[in-house]
This record gives sequence, C-alpha cells and structure tokens, in this order.
Amino acid sequence: MSKSYRALVLEAGGAFKIKRISLPSLQAGMAAVRVRAAAVNHRDLWIQKGQYAGLKFPLVPGSDGAGLVEQIGAGVEPNWLGRKVVINPSLDWGPSREAQGNNFRILGLPETGTFAEYVVVPAANLAAMPPHLSFEEAAALPLAATTAYRALFTRGGIRPGEKLLITGIGGGVALFLLRFAVAAKARVFVTSGSDDKLRKAMELGAEGGVNYRDGKWAELLQEKAGLFDCSIDSAGGPDFPKLCDLSRAGGRLVFFGATLGNPPDLPLRKVFWRQLNLIGTTMGSPQDFADMLGFVEREKILPVIDGVYPFEQAEEALRRMDLAGQFGKLVLTMTGPEDA
Ligand SMILES: NC(=O)c1ccc[n+]([C@@H]2O[C@H](COP(=O)([O-])OP(=O)(O)OC[C@H]3O[C@@H](n4cnc5c(N)ncnc54)[C@H](OP(=O)(O)O)[C@@H]3O)[C@@H](O)[C@H]2O)c1
Repeated sequence: MSKSYRALVLEAGGAFKIKRISLPSLQAGMAAVRVRAAAVNHRDLWIQKGQYAGLKFPLVPGSDGAGLVEQIGAGVEPNWLGRKVVINPSLDWGPSREAQGNNFRILGLPETGTFAEYVVVPAANLAAMPPHLSFEEAAALPLAATTAYRALFTRGGIRPGEKLLITGIGGGVALFLLRFAVAAKARVFVTSGSDDKLRKAMELGAEGGVNYRDGKWAELLQEKAGLFDCSIDSAGGPDFPKLCDLSRAGGRLVFFGATLGNPPDLPLRKVFWRQLNLIGTTMGSPQDFADMLGFVEREKILPVIDGVYPFEQAEEALRRMDLAGQFGKLVLTMTGPEDA
C-alpha cells in the first residue's frame, strides 16, 4: 500500500500549495527519509520565479534536508534505518573530482525535493548527521556549505594568514565561507548592502567590511585592507570587474553565482597582465561533501541561521530571501502527525 505525505507543491508561477503526494515504492539502492528540517537556497527562489533551466511543473523544490531514515530499498545497508542523516543534494556527480559529469542533477528539480514530510534519495547520498548539530542546523548545511567548502578550499586553495574578500555576506553560502575561513585562520573582509550585517559579520570574526551600496566601496575597501589574495563572489554584475582591481598580482577570484547577471565587461588586459586566476566553481563532489562534514564536525562549526519557519510558512521565508533580508540560512521544519 503506498503511503501519502504532505509536500509543498509549486505550480507554474504560483505560491506553494500544501498537497498530499504518494511515496513511491523504493527501488534498489534508494532510501526514504522522514524530513525533519529543510533549508531554503536561492535556487528555490529562482525556481519559484520561473527563472531556472529545466522547469517542469508541478514540482516539489528543496535541496537541503536532514531527518530520519524510515525505509530502505534492496541492497541498502540495514543499519541506515532509524539513523539521523543529512542528505547530499548532488545527484550523480560522476567520477571526477575536477568537475561534475553530464548526468549531474541537484535534488529538488527534476527529482522531488525536501520541502516535504518525506524525500526519496539514493542511500549513497546519505551521511550521518554531525552529532553537535540539531536537525535545523544540519539541514542548513548541504548545498550552501558544500558550495562554500569547495569554493574556499578545493578551488580557492585558501591558506592560513591569507587575505580573503567575501562579497554579499548576508547570503547563505557567504556565511559558511566566513565560518570556514575564520576556522582556517584566513583574514576575512566582507561586503554587504546592510551596515547591520557588516557589524554582525565582524562579531563572527571578519576583520572589516564595506557597504556595496556606496559607489566608492572598492576604493574604501582597498584603503582599509589593501589588496586580496583571494576573493569569493556570487553577485557578478556591474561591480565584478572591481574584484580584479582589488586582487593582488597572481591572486584568485572564485565565483559560483551571478545573482546580478553577467558583468557588462571584463578587463582582460588587467587579468592577463596581473596574472589573475578566474576560478568558476559549482556545488561539490561527494569528496567535497564528505570533507565539508568532517571539517564541520572537527571545528564544531555552527551554521548561521536567520530564522526557522514551520513548513506551512515557507512563503514567508522565500519573501525574506527575495528582499535579501536574511543573515544566514532560512530553515523550514516539518512536524508530521506523529510529532504533533
Ligand atoms: N553554482 C553553485 O553551485 C551555487 C550554489 C549556491 C548558490 N549559487 C548562487 O549564488 C548566489 C547566492 O546564493 P545563496 O543561496 O547564498 O543566496 P542568498 O542567501 O539569497 O544570498 C544572496 C546575497 O547576495 C548578496 N548581494 C545582493 N546584491 C549584491 C551586490 N550588489 N554585491 C554583492 N552581494 C550582493 C546579498 O548580500 P547582503 O545581504 O549582505 O547584501 C544577499 O544576501 C545565487 O545567485 C545562487 O543561485 C550557486
């Protein structure tokens, strides 16, 4: 008999609707996780706005989840049953650590995602929850912390004492970058559109910061901090070339997003003459995910959480993200009938 469960279903161009959908019978190698908490990523907002490739409605978004393994398919190690897990949302990354293969997908589109009471994922994508974290904290990790880990260490190669710039510090990935970089003993400077967020970032270990709404932010930052060994950005847009000006000769400029679109121009002569390294990065390999969890556990990293919402109020969380109101992750909690 197939079990039904509640999910946040998105139809073209609309708000979420709570609907009951059926849990599919589990194929070999798959596991059904009773989701206790899920976190929102900008990707979910792009999907809701219809601005993401490969949209097919209706769909259940959500890439991040933590919960309890409730059912397993054939061939799955039975000791997963009942365990607290966090889910790696990178599906079919492929064999190379260098880049994902052609079958790579992110949980939450096209596969049914974690904004639901249950999610079905390959058992290979399960990992034990770091014991110092709650379900809400663990759910904040997967997509953002893996992206941050790969950007900072695997691709960015950050070293202790290096000067790092993180732009748009209120963002979910940006705050993991800050937590990880401080733990790795880098010297961190940040930008934000909010002075209050700049203050909060300094409480978390940033040395200084500037407001990107000031037309002279790059000059102000250079006065405060000098040039950077590494900058990590996800805004893109018209100010991206300023990151080249802020880079030392031979520096690294790592980027994983383009919230503001493509830069209108790229100063190629500056890039080659000053031996700058432009480094693209996306999500992370299974090894990045495992290394990230190991780092979080070893360094007792706590995700910065802006707010926790009952999943019935997901719409509120998405509107807060749309206005860039958040400082850290927005987390949804699922209270099933048996928890009520
Ligand atoms: N390639 C990948 O694997 C990958 C993974 C994750 C995310 N992404 C992309 O990366 C971006 C961020 O994702 P997220 O989930 O961290 O989003 P998020 O939590 O919504 O954060 C977005 C942040 O962008 C900052 N921002 C807005 N305008 C800016 C500007 N002019 N200059 C600098 N920063 C600006 C804001 O920072 P303040 O609030 O401090 O002003 C805002 O908080 C999105 O475009 C997302 O699609 C890509």
